[in-house]
Amino acid sequence: MEAHKQLTIGLFGFGVVGEGLYKVLQQTPSLKASIKKVCIKNPEKKRNAPADLFTTNKNDLLNDPEINVIVEVIDDSAAAFDIVQNALRNGKSVVSASKKMIAENLPAILQLQEETGQSFLCESAACASIPVIRNLEEYYDNDLLHSIKAIVNGSTNFILTKMFEDKLSFSEALLLAQQLGFAESNPKLDVEGFDALNKWTILLNHAYGIVAHPDDILFTGIQNVQGSDAGVAKEKSYDIKLIAQAKKLKNGKVAAFVLPQFVELTDPLSFVKNEYNGVVIESGFADKQFFYGKGAGSFPTASAVLSDIAALRYNYRYEYKKLYHHKPHVLTNDYYLKVYLSFDDWKYIPREEFEWIEEWHAQAERKYLIGVLHCEKLVQSNWWKTNNTSLILTPDPIIDNLDIIHLKKRSLELAGVV
Ligand code: HSE
Repeated sequence: MEAHKQLTIGLFGFGVVGEGLYKVLQQTPSLKASIKKVCIKNPEKKRNAPADLFTTNKNDLLNDPEINVIVEVIDDSAAAFDIVQNALRNGKSVVSASKKMIAENLPAILQLQEETGQSFLCESAACASIPVIRNLEEYYDNDLLHSIKAIVNGSTNFILTKMFEDKLSFSEALLLAQQLGFAESNPKLDVEGFDALNKWTILLNHAYGIVAHPDDILFTGIQNVQGSDAGVAKEKSYDIKLIAQAKKLKNGKVAAFVLPQFVELTDPLSFVKNEYNGVVIESGFADKQFFYGKGAGSFPTASAVLSDIAALRYNYRYEYKKLYHHKPHVLTNDYYLKVYLSFDDWKYIPREEFEWIEEWHAQAERKYLIGVLHCEKLVQSNWWKTNNTSLILTPDPIIDNLDIIHLKKRSLELAGVV
């Protein structure tokens, strides 16, 4: 049997995740992995590690032949991409936590792995401590993966929990998420859904072989969710969560988005509170499976980085089976969504865009409706993100084209229209 590889690490970044990894590695001597150098941006900052470990020159790491693994956990996605390219081309394996960088450069990163034959692992880039990427890669066959529904951003889940259960204000909850090291340095990335979108782009690749750009996917964050929405959710026995979802339609194409959603209190994702993440996978024969764990924070994220480092001892690589060994799936916006919308004035709502409206409540200061519209109507415009309008999907929101006529007829019958 091949002896385990000795791993000599060059680490980029010593923030929440980098320092976490440094500490975690000190507690796992059996791993036979040691950090030789850490590249940082600001040499003045006081750090809890020997000064001679640090450098500001990236080439001290990238050109050191003894370093065979580059771990990159920095915040700047352009710099991160540059490091990844150089490291792979210099014959080093890479472990990365930079979800934005990976999502925005997916085709190039796939190409680089093909060209160089090096491993590029990124388990920590989606759902931190939950081993979701390796599970999607190794366990779920293409044909059997019907849908995935997940909470992939810890900060927004933390904020929603603190606002609606502990009655904190939005800004108090956000500040706490920042203090605890969950939020991105630009928290807009969390709050407005960009971080979840980047993670979803990565997971769609490992789940379905889809190579999408974040710009191709319908999304928003929790910035428009109102206190009154939580009131409606409570009346209907729902929770509000920021949900990333993908589902194979009857024509074999995949519907995917990141949007706030009502979830039933019996849904496993309703159980996911604070900075925890959760993933519900529905697959043929197995029915539903639920993965749960911390989705942000220093040690949970470092634990996923550590697991990738450990996997490199065995020269583990993603095979991207869904992309290269199967017919990859294609994304589509050709389906319908059942949505809840709350708004200040009817004039902001293009009622003609709806196939049908099932409920409308126009008396109160804050009005709302529940209706069905084609996904393209949301993709093509942003009226639903502006003028303080809040869109939240209903619990089982995706309606296949093949079912729409039947459902519309039934809904109109129920309303006594036909
Ligand atoms: N800001 C991210 C989150 C950190 O809140 O999920 C973990 O990726």
